[in-house]
This record gives sequence, C-alpha cells and structure tokens, in this order.
Amino acid sequence: MSLVSAMKDHEPFPWYQSMREHAPVHYNSEEDYWEVFRFEDVNKVLSDHKNFSSDLKYLNLPNEDNVILPFFKQSLIQMDPPQHKTFRNLVNQPFWPKSVAELTPRIQKITYELLNGVAGKEQMDVIDDFAYPLPVTVIAELLGVPHEDRDLFKHWADVQVATGVGVIGQRIDDPETLRARQQVQDEMSRYFKTILEARRKEPQSDLITHLLASEIQGERLSEEQLLGFCSLLLIAGHITTTNLIANAFLCLAEYPEALTSLRNRPELIPSFVEEVLRYRSPVQRITRFTATDTKIGGQTIRAGQRVLAWIGSANRDELNFPNANQFDLERNPNPHLAFGHGIHICLGAPLARLEGKVAFDVLLQRLSDMNCLDDTVFEPIESSVIYGVKQLPIRIQST
Ligand code: HEM
Repeated sequence: MSLVSAMKDHEPFPWYQSMREHAPVHYNSEEDYWEVFRFEDVNKVLSDHKNFSSDLKYLNLPNEDNVILPFFKQSLIQMDPPQHKTFRNLVNQPFWPKSVAELTPRIQKITYELLNGVAGKEQMDVIDDFAYPLPVTVIAELLGVPHEDRDLFKHWADVQVATGVGVIGQRIDDPETLRARQQVQDEMSRYFKTILEARRKEPQSDLITHLLASEIQGERLSEEQLLGFCSLLLIAGHITTTNLIANAFLCLAEYPEALTSLRNRPELIPSFVEEVLRYRSPVQRITRFTATDTKIGGQTIRAGQRVLAWIGSANRDELNFPNANQFDLERNPNPHLAFGHGIHICLGAPLARLEGKVAFDVLLQRLSDMNCLDDTVFEPIESSVIYGVKQLPIRIQST
C-alpha cells in the first residue's frame, strides 16, 4: 500500500465532513460531551471565552482519582480572564514576532547541524533526525533546560499524548495508563524543581530565571504556577511544531507538484507552511467548559458541559475554504484556526512559523531529494488531539 493511500485510511477528514453536514453541533451521550465541527461554531467557541471557559472549575468532576486531568492545574492554558491576561503578560514579550526573529541565526544553525548529521546517508527519519530535535532544542534553550535531555522530554510528551487520548474529566479504566501518567507527572515535577532550585541560586538569561523573578501584585509565582509554565512551554513548544514539519512532508507526498513549485519559487514557503497548518493541523481539537447555558448552532448547551471544538474540521469547512479538501500552496486568504483564536491564541505561533520557514528554506537548499518512501508503513499518532505520524522515513540526497 502506498503512503498516500495508507494515510487516507486513517484520516478523520471524511468523518468531519459528515458531521459538518449532518450533526454540526453534536451531543455525545455515551461520553457526555458536546462537539462542534463547522468553522463558524468552532470560531465562536474559541472567541467567546465568557461562555466557553478554559477553567476546569465549571466541570462537575467525579470525586475519583481515575479521571483524565491536566498535569499541572495552574497553567495559562486553563485560565480565564482576568488571571489569564496577567499570566500571559509575563511571557508575551519573548514570543513576539520581533523577539522571535532574533532567533533566526540560531534556528538556521541547528537546522544545518541536523542535516550535517545525515549527510552522506540515503535515508533519514523526518521525525527522529529532524522534526523532533529542531523545535525541542529551540524551546529548551529559550526556557533554559539542557536540550541533551530531549529523549526524556520526548518520553514525557509521548506519554501525555498517548494516555490523554480521551477528554478531560473522562474516566481511565486501565491502571497501567493511570500509572504511566502519574509517573511522568512526578518525573516532570522533580526535574523542574531541581532546575528551579539551580536558577534561584545562579540566575541565567533564560525564561525560567525570568519567571522566577516575575511578580504578580507584588508576589512571586508559586511553585505550582512555575511548574505549570515550565511544562506548558516545554511540551506545547515542541510536539506541535514537530508535527507541523512532519505533516508538511505528508502534504508533499500527496501533492508532489508542490515540491517542484517550492523549489522553483522558495518565496512560497510561508504560504506553504500556512496551508500545511490548515490542511493537516497538528492540533485537531481543543476543549472548553460551558460557564452558562449557551446557545450554539441552534442548540442549547447547559452550563458545566465539556465542548470539543474540532479545529481540524473547521479548517476543512467548504463554506470558509473553497476546495477545502485540496492542498493549495498559494491559498490566499487562509484564515485557518490551527493556532486557535481569541485570548488563548497560540503564544508560540510566530516561533512555530519561523521554525517551519527556516526548516524548509534549508531543506530545499541542502536536499536535492527528500521524497517519502512508497513502501512506508504509516503509523498515525494515537491521539484525537495531536495529528501526525510516529515515524516518517524519507529518501535523501544532499546537494
Ligand atoms: C496555545 C497550537 C506551537 C505555546 C495553542 C492553541 C493552539 C496551539 C490550537 C490554543 C489552545 C486553546 O485555545 O486552548 C499550536 C500549533 C503549534 C504550536 C499548531 C505549532 C505548529 C507552539 C509553540 C509554543 C506554543 C512553538 C512555544 C512556547 C503555546 C502556549 C499556549 C498555546 C503557551 C497557551 C496560550 C494561552 O492559553 O494563552 N497552541 N501551537 N505553541 N501554545 Fe501553541
């Protein structure tokens, strides 16, 4: 089976299309949550933070310890205003496009080094050799954790993704899954506490030192808040971009003519990155909790319910994207929701875009062949949140 046809067998996109057509706002009675599929409704859930909250307090969680919960409760991504704004302001500046642009030479250097590592080989694995180490090295350096520990970070991210397959608040029946989650949570806490202690004694010019010195209304952040920041920035800062880069290769496998166009017109790389984000969005869904009884798409959702907003479906909505199921390198406008929307819009979007652009600038210069192998066994990541593949071997030839 070819890579492209194998991919098609695993894709959620036909299901999304059918839901957009037949049940765009849908109550899943078995699991007791709502789902929205159309662009308009997903956009509303993301924009209307008053009714669609990120704060778990609106959810009536069963008083049991076998439910899926976020690893760290005091995290920016789970906050509503006004707390959200105060916390986001602490980390906004290093992620502004202007600050991020200054990282360009460092990102280029890492990219060249990674490709030097496979020079002379006939094959590389896109994920292991390139798409994983690039963003994890960048975010580790920004944060101030040793990038040599990246195998450990990968393990944490893999366990988080593999064991968080359900929806927040859902029961986990398998004790092994619960144990794996708990173990990773303990490991992350211990790891970051050691780093925090080291930075307290010897401050550096990194984000962790900056967070340690930050104050909210005259008070330093608590240990739990610092852990929330460290784990969010480290994990959100790499698995997503890894899949952006790898998913770009999947798009090129499906649309080989796009690779020729990119080689002839490298100025299309930014538009290519945007279309990959739309067409194979690394984050397929986000979850919110209704703070009040709320109307959406003609349905009323009671307060205290979970709502899954399917970004991956919104980005294929024909009403907003003509020929939505076609990969169009020059799509313009391309108002995709891959980075979310509203107050929680991705903090790292400028960084992810820059990493994607630099990666393909360098790849196109350095590799005259970078095609997927036809006999690849395609193994999707087992998650309904993160979309991508576990491994992606390609044929390579250096220039
Ligand atoms: C938030 C996607 C890269 C850090 C988000 C959200 C999405 C997203 C959809 C919104 C979540 C919500 O509304 O609940 C992506 C994608 C990426 C990417 C697709 C890469 C292609 C990054 C990077 C960082 C990062 C490189 C670096 C630190 C964050 C943070 C938030 C966030 C901190 C929470 C923002 C808030 O709650 O105000 N991301 N992300 N992301 N992302 Fe990203």
